[in-house]
Amino acid sequence: MSEKLRVGVIGAGRWSVSAHLPGFYRSPLCDVVMLCDLDLDKAESRARQFEIPGWTDDYEKVLSRPDIDVIDIVTRSDGSHEDLVFATLEAGKHCLVEKPVCHDYRDVWRAHELAQSKGLKTKVGLTFRYAPAVMYMFDLIREGFIGQPFAFNGYEQNSQWLDPDNPMDKRIHKTKPLGEEPWGVDLSRQGITPSSIELYAAPTIDIGLECIGSDLAQVVGVLANMVPFRRKTNLDTEYERINIDDLDMFIAEAKNGALYSMQSSYVTVGNYPGIEAHIYGSQGAIKVRLVDEFGVIQTIHTARPDAVEFVQQEIPPRYFPPGYQKDDRWDCAFYGNLVHNFCQEIIDGGEANQGNFAQSARVQEIINAVVLSHYKHEWVDLPLNDEAGILKTIRFSPF
Ligand SMILES: NC(=O)c1ccc[n+]([C@@H]2O[C@H](COP(=O)([O-])OP(=O)(O)OC[C@H]3O[C@@H](n4cnc5c(N)ncnc54)[C@H](O)[C@@H]3O)[C@@H](O)[C@H]2O)c1
Repeated sequence: MSEKLRVGVIGAGRWSVSAHLPGFYRSPLCDVVMLCDLDLDKAESRARQFEIPGWTDDYEKVLSRPDIDVIDIVTRSDGSHEDLVFATLEAGKHCLVEKPVCHDYRDVWRAHELAQSKGLKTKVGLTFRYAPAVMYMFDLIREGFIGQPFAFNGYEQNSQWLDPDNPMDKRIHKTKPLGEEPWGVDLSRQGITPSSIELYAAPTIDIGLECIGSDLAQVVGVLANMVPFRRKTNLDTEYERINIDDLDMFIAEAKNGALYSMQSSYVTVGNYPGIEAHIYGSQGAIKVRLVDEFGVIQTIHTARPDAVEFVQQEIPPRYFPPGYQKDDRWDCAFYGNLVHNFCQEIIDGGEANQGNFAQSARVQEIINAVVLSHYKHEWVDLPLNDEAGILKTIRFSPF
């Protein structure tokens, strides 16, 4: 392996430009050497913006380069992640991918096992475990600050799709996409398309698992559709019935006895990214808030049984990524840590590999269980048993 890691990035869209590429650009541990996008003009312009020497519209040209150590997959959540992940691992490259790795948690485990068998490290875009405030919270918990965990409450909510004029499909289409099935025809309980629970709740579910230090034993949850009619694409002028999960809640019992709750939504008033994580234990409690409000992107408050008023704590400088600047946006600041941490884990070569495919599989299993709980209208046990084969029939949202 060369001194600095050499990275190939697949996907030069919005999230790549606001989070991934700035993170790689700033990390002293790597160089992005090739950027790939189906839209070659986009690949070229973004490559020039981030001083990346090569660009292409063919991902196989990236995977086949022997000098590339790491592949980063930032395509949309339309099923492309899974194919690209397996191709990356087969090509013998370390892999970072946006969530979800695969819609079915069993496929995420398969990908994890393939990576393990080839000695490759993996990481998933569980962005918010890398927020300095969350990293600090995890360390406080490891040091015993909360004692025995009693209860976790997680929220991931913002109002990006509250306005029905905001198209469900974020892409800017020049011509109407053809051949896509209509959404929301089936208004039965099972007809709702899982969306917020997979694309928005995932990173906070991950934080919750780390906070309570346990797997979940059973879950019961509801997916709801609060804004039923909206524009589908930027080219539509009429509203359409789109039966999609834009608000969901679940509660769970953990194996270690802790209780766990989660609410996720993109139609609840509030700013990005809209995350709150509260953990209460026998010795103390911690509340982290990652909501961009008046230029403040993160806060952490703690309380003790003998000092029950929550007090804001300063986040020590060691939790901030290389090149961090005070006015950094949240996406750039948090992803800077993620990317740098992944490079460090690969270069160090030990066992450490936080937020990897195994962790993502645990999160995806919970997401799958909440969807099944909603469909069946009952508690669902974990580990999941999908004897009826429902998981493979679910159509998840690509938006
Ligand atoms: N972790 C987070 O907090 C977070 C936040 C926002 C978005 N995301 C995730 O990031 C991913 C990308 O989202 P986005 O908003 O940037 O989407 P986008 O549509 O803006 O960008 C995706 C890009 O991938 C390209 N692409 C698709 N398939 C390709 C292929 N086979 N080869 C090369 N290029 C290909 C497209 O041309 C497009 O430019 C999604 O999975 C989304 O869920 C994660």
